[in-house]
Amino acid sequence: MADEHHATDYHAPVLVNEVLDWLNTADKTRFVDGTAGGGGHSEAILEATAPQGRLLAIDRDPRAVEEVKDRLSEYDQRLTVVCGNYSQTPQLLRQQRWEKVDGWLVDAGVSSHQLDDAQRGFSFRNPGPLDMRMGPDAESAADFLDRVDRDEFARVLREYGEVDRARSLASNILDARRDGRLETTTDLADLVEELRGQPEWKKPSIHPATLVFQAIRIAVNRELDHLEKAVESIPRVVAVGGRAVFISFHSLEDRIVKHGFRRMADPCVCPPDLPRCGCAAEPFGRVLTTRPVRPSEKEIEENPRSRSARLRVFEVTAEGRWPN
Ligand SMILES: C[S@@+](CC[C@H](N)C(=O)[O-])C[C@H]1O[C@@H](n2cnc3c(N)ncnc32)[C@H](O)[C@@H]1O
Repeated sequence: MADEHHATDYHAPVLVNEVLDWLNTADKTRFVDGTAGGGGHSEAILEATAPQGRLLAIDRDPRAVEEVKDRLSEYDQRLTVVCGNYSQTPQLLRQQRWEKVDGWLVDAGVSSHQLDDAQRGFSFRNPGPLDMRMGPDAESAADFLDRVDRDEFARVLREYGEVDRARSLASNILDARRDGRLETTTDLADLVEELRGQPEWKKPSIHPATLVFQAIRIAVNRELDHLEKAVESIPRVVAVGGRAVFISFHSLEDRIVKHGFRRMADPCVCPPDLPRCGCAAEPFGRVLTTRPVRPSEKEIEENPRSRSARLRVFEVTAEGRWPN
């Protein structure tokens, strides 16, 4: 099975067969993988499109870029790997002198390799620095905690982590940081556990610090901004007849993808009772997935980290136009 075949120690790719089907790899030749990670999806796309398919693989993490260049070196005639942000895909395509592509994959979020390496600071199972940067284009968690004010931090905790009583938690964390009591990931996790304990949380099965880490990670990497920008840039990346396949792991991300796809399918902003459209907007294409595609129970059993994956597909069918 493709999913097992492309799993590496670095990261087990999710929904591999579904990605290949929805990208329509059988008839197409030019692809972008915006989140190369360990190269599992990239490899699957290169194999499915042999011998003429070409792939531009992007990751903001220089270590992922090295991993993919190394692991997929046998495909170097057809594969170009660059370090960059997928929100800059139109510019990256231009730099490579590529035209628009037939298929664009974005598999948002962090890789298992990033999560499991304590030195990256994403997890609190072992002590690590307060870093959490996916790549050098982000701000470290330590710098974020040193500059953010209480109101902004409370908003981040509330919006990106759905944390209760966010203002008091934000104050306590920022005080501890200023007093020099917060140097490592485990310092932060221990502090949150001490302040909150398990039972008061909505999901008592998870460690109380999990959502705090998630919120800081989303903020320092500006994950939602990049995703929103990427969705909006689909018409500049994907050629007419091509498809964008976006996988997200968080309800906030999925909402951005869902609403962004809908806006491109129906960009008109005229009031519904207006007899004729006055904004001159024209659709860019259609949403192919009315509901998100989810991993099978078998896949979730084999790879529990796939359980929150949601895949949505947009097909570009026209040049389209945003409202005047
Ligand atoms: C879930 S992993 C992708 C795994 C990959 N599909 C595979 O098969 O191994 C997400 C990857 O996307 C990268 N990433 C996340 N946000 C990014 C962004 N805005 N621009 C470029 N890369 C990003 C992360 O550094 C990470 O390596």
